[in-house]
Amino acid sequence: MDQMGREDKKAKSGAVMVIGGGIAGIQSSLDLAESGFKVYLLEETPAIGGTMAQLDKTFPTNDCAMCVISPKLVACGRHLNIDLITNSELIGLTGEAGNFKVRVKQRPRYIDPAKCTGCGACTQNCPVTRVVYPVEKSELEIERKDREIVDPILAKHKEQRGSLMPVLQEINKRYNYLPKDVLSYVAAELGLNISDIYGIAKFYNAFSLEPRGRHKVSVCMGTTCYVKGADKLLQRLCEQLDTTPGGTTEDMRFTIESARCLGCCSLAPAIMVDDKVYGRVKNSDLPKILKDYE
Ligand code: FES
Repeated sequence: MDQMGREDKKAKSGAVMVIGGGIAGIQSSLDLAESGFKVYLLEETPAIGGTMAQLDKTFPTNDCAMCVISPKLVACGRHLNIDLITNSELIGLTGEAGNFKVRVKQRPRYIDPAKCTGCGACTQNCPVTRVVYPVEKSELEIERKDREIVDPILAKHKEQRGSLMPVLQEINKRYNYLPKDVLSYVAAELGLNISDIYGIAKFYNAFSLEPRGRHKVSVCMGTTCYVKGADKLLQRLCEQLDTTPGGTTEDMRFTIESARCLGCCSLAPAIMVDDKVYGRVKNSDLPKILKDYE
């Protein structure tokens, strides 16, 4: 972290440059800006957020990473004392403590940032098309019973814009997961790259690429539930069902997942079976709860 220079070498600048727009840089910028400093937050990539913005959960509480970082991203973008300088790198630094001069190289964005609203219309009108790698013929052969399920779903959504999500949701609902051969078939039918489909399927918790049990047991590992012993509850549940977190019982009855906050922290520790929430759950309550789903 270095202070920006002014012409007068003796004067203290009162402005600060923070280098790196990850969670540490963002929090430092917010703290400095709140203390009355003018902050220049320099980030090499086109957007701030860093690695944390790509994480699903954070150790050790399994809190949702985006839930933690999103309010800070917005605060950073809106703070009048913070100037974001993204897509840029530091190429020179001279001066001394209290009075630095920096040289920054800013790469072009090929859009006018003052006008861009992030609507995405430019990507739809872009004349350059992406190469779609053909799916192997052998991968397209799905069983007749699968085609009877998938073809009507594709026919229903194929013509609409953004058809992939509703197609995946319906397939996931029918099979309780997304079979890989069906996804290859969907990719070919919708003219999409299979890797894009996997990217979406792996990003959303609602989708699974592995077969799942008939009932989903979610053990809340949010902060409140965790301090109330949710980790021991999860361990006990896994022992009882002879599986592991994320696993499915052999009889395909239950899939166990750890969840983030279920929205009922006053009932911690909480678990949810399908859509039903159980609060203040003790280890001894588990057999009775599971019996309801036999
Ligand atoms: S932390 Fe478990 S319900 Fe909120």
